Amino acid sequence: MCFYRLQGKVALITGGASGIGEGTARLFARHGAKVVIADVQSDLGHSVSKEIQSESGQPVSYVQCDVAKDSDVENAVKTAVSMHGKLDIMFNNAGITGKYDPSILSIEREDFKKVFDINVYGGLLGAKHAATAMIPQKKGCILFTASIASVSYGGIPHAYTAAKHAVVGNSHSFSCQGDGGVDLKTVQEASMAVANLKGVSADANDIAEAALYLGSEESRLQGKAALITGGASGIGETTARLFARNGAKVVIADVQSELGHSVSKKMESETGQPVSYVHCDVTKESDIENAVNAVVSKHGKLDIMFNNAGITGKYDPSIFSTEAEDFKKVMDINVYGGLLGAKHAARVMIPEKKGCILFTASLAAVIYGGVPHAYTASKHAVVGITKNLAVELGQHGIRVNCISPVAVFTPSVGRAMGLDEKTLEAVNLAIANLKGVKIDVNDMAEAALYLGSEESKFVSGFNLVVDGGFSLRHSALGFDKS
Ligand SMILES: NC(=O)c1ccc[n+]([C@@H]2O[C@H](COP(=O)([O-])OP(=O)(O)OC[C@H]3O[C@@H](n4cnc5c(N)ncnc54)[C@H](O)[C@@H]3O)[C@@H](O)[C@H]2O)c1
Repeated sequence: MCFYRLQGKVALITGGASGIGEGTARLFARHGAKVVIADVQSDLGHSVSKEIQSESGQPVSYVQCDVAKDSDVENAVKTAVSMHGKLDIMFNNAGITGKYDPSILSIEREDFKKVFDINVYGGLLGAKHAATAMIPQKKGCILFTASIASVSYGGIPHAYTAAKHAVVGNSHSFSCQGDGGVDLKTVQEASMAVANLKGVSADANDIAEAALYLGSEESRLQGKAALITGGASGIGETTARLFARNGAKVVIADVQSELGHSVSKKMESETGQPVSYVHCDVTKESDIENAVNAVVSKHGKLDIMFNNAGITGKYDPSIFSTEAEDFKKVMDINVYGGLLGAKHAARVMIPEKKGCILFTASLAAVIYGGVPHAYTASKHAVVGITKNLAVELGQHGIRVNCISPVAVFTPSVGRAMGLDEKTLEAVNLAIANLKGVKIDVNDMAEAALYLGSEESKFVSGFNLVVDGGFSLRHSALGFDKS
């Protein structure tokens, strides 16, 4: 089965003549995009684009462009638009390491300036000219290649590290100007040399896959077996449907048996994939053990464990309403239930030396949300165990990630907040950082799909915040005028 995930899209990729840029150009074209490669290596750029064009059957061309020169970047964007009528994806990927000496004593102004000119200013120019083309379209996607050096120490030159941190900063600050419907994302490169996740070899293709995910709207799970707790309703139900639609065999684990049975039957007939239900209270170890065993005996394995079941608890955000029973229940389901899910998933995944464990955390684990303290504490705890488990289970080739959704309408959120679907949708549109994008449970399911698929095979310990950049804003700061 072949999926064209960028059909009809137009992409401009700087530094596209070699490495990650070339790999991405190849993958984008294979997925139906019209690609323009912008680079300073003319001979290579021409030959690579010809080769990709004949391989993929898509129009792939080359434009000479030094990203540090405003007129070159402007010309590259205009070339893409005049050739293909629009620009959908701008991938600011061009970059250099500079002089490869990590000692502070070797810092030199010329080298530092060059690294910043290309890695940072070049990306700013790319974003500027892409935004000029994208804002009238009210949509578009701008990507940057940062680096693992913008996340943790890598023993690499200070100028490069500083530049890649700056790239992440720029990505955030553009994100906060999302009014034009333009989406800003940063791809972090990682290297196998420092891998925590064992047995997975990463190369430029994995970075290209990350760029493909960030620039596209679909992905797949052919042949995978997934267990989804809290799968009878809301985010879990929508994820189960999307997983099945993408070729996964799904087992829904929930306490709502009647709903779980009917939902899974409906999904099975809709998607043609095996979808079944198992009764499981995530706070009971024997239930979780049984649910995991049911997946393995039905499908021979467990590839994805999605610990999604959760409750808000008593919906009163005041500290004075904190009650032991309610607190205990929220922690039991949201945290201990997730730990039990991870434990039994790990039991069957470790011998396979692979697997993927996901959790649903919340935006409340990132910023204040006016939600109850017990819930907030539980979701912070979920992010914490995601990181802990990513390190422990990385030794066995198992990835562990979580998603943090902004508020989207589901039965429990509607009940807790006392809002109907239309009202919550209107509130989300009004307060959104990323303007013009309607969101719902499907967007959370898409995030889980990415983390559950091979496209994220080198992503672990990550909290994927699905909020359109909302949590990055500090509107209390006087200088945020938007
Ligand atoms: N909807 C949102 O806006 C939002 C935002 C952030 C985080 N979340 C989180 O998303 C997850 C899913 O919530 P939702 O919004 O889809 O709500 P939902 O109520 O529609 O789904 C939750 C499901 O969990 C099940 N469940 C509850 N207790 C259980 C238990 N002990 N064992 C097994 N299943 C149990 C429920 O029966 C239900 O089917 C939760 O972890 C929630 O905290 C939701």
